[in-house]
Amino acid sequence: MALTHLIIGAGNMGGALLAGWLGDGLVNRRNIAILDPRPGADAVYAIERGAKHLSDSSQIPKSIKVALLAIKPQMFADMRETLGESLPKGATLISIMAGISLSDLQACAPQCEAVRAMPNTPASIGRGITAYVADADTQADTIANAEALLGACGEVVRVDTDDLINAVTAISGSGPAYLFYLCEALASAGAAIGLSAETADRLARQTVVGASALLDASDRTPGALREAVTSPGGTTQAALDVLMGEDGMAQLMRRAAKAALDRSRELSR
Ligand SMILES: NC(=O)c1ccc[n+]([C@@H]2O[C@H](COP(=O)([O-])OP(=O)(O)OC[C@H]3O[C@@H](n4cnc5c(N)ncnc54)[C@H](OP(=O)(O)O)[C@@H]3O)[C@@H](O)[C@H]2O)c1
Repeated sequence: MALTHLIIGAGNMGGALLAGWLGDGLVNRRNIAILDPRPGADAVYAIERGAKHLSDSSQIPKSIKVALLAIKPQMFADMRETLGESLPKGATLISIMAGISLSDLQACAPQCEAVRAMPNTPASIGRGITAYVADADTQADTIANAEALLGACGEVVRVDTDDLINAVTAISGSGPAYLFYLCEALASAGAAIGLSAETADRLARQTVVGASALLDASDRTPGALREAVTSPGGTTQAALDVLMGEDGMAQLMRRAAKAALDRSRELSR
């Protein structure tokens, strides 16, 4: 069977996408080549069952149609030249590397069509959201195929410019950490008002998990769900008066997202 799909860097994210492709039946294991000196568990499992393990980019076969680039961005400088020379003409290069622009990818492999994507960590359980950018004149079937492959780990959304990937990074890329921190802060507030640390942790964690599941199960907006649990003059209202006040959470979140955006732009330079 021809090797058509190549994964370069099969660690956390590359492995998650590989597992998604195989799980959704998008690609046959025997059509997959994995280029990674020390592949992660998902890739080892696939290699033991028929995927091809490559030891360096000179072994990339001419039959490759899609190459997923999922190494750390700092490794890219070392391999960009050999990689660019090894990828076959007409292949699609999909990169999920933070900070490596669409034009960097196009310069690395001008013979390929490039797609720059930014997933987030819930991709590892198939619940991620990935935003991507491609040139406006990218072929429709390249886009459809890239969306299907990226969609194996959750939802997919297209943005129009490379700079908007920095904004995506600030919202959904880094966003899971904001939610985890919210959970920590809620637990810490619980301990501060008299609960044991263990009980406060359990209450906070299950509240975040349960509220997220409720949001997922509902077709109502987050605002409508919030209003549904807020009686005028009640306890939730008292807390929301603080959170929604001047210099409250909306302003804080805007500042946090702007800091992430600025940092993402800095790292992309
Ligand atoms: N994790 C996230 O939340 C997230 C979100 C969005 C985007 N990303 C992007 O996803 C990419 C991968 O992140 P990750 O968390 O999956 O990293 P990771 O777990 O470290 O995976 C990278 C893999 O690439 C391998 N590798 C290193 N040098 C290589 C080379 N020259 N050729 C082939 N493979 C090589 C690594 O092997 P060794 O372990 O031996 O070095 C490792 O198995 C990064 O560019 C990151 O910016 C990550």
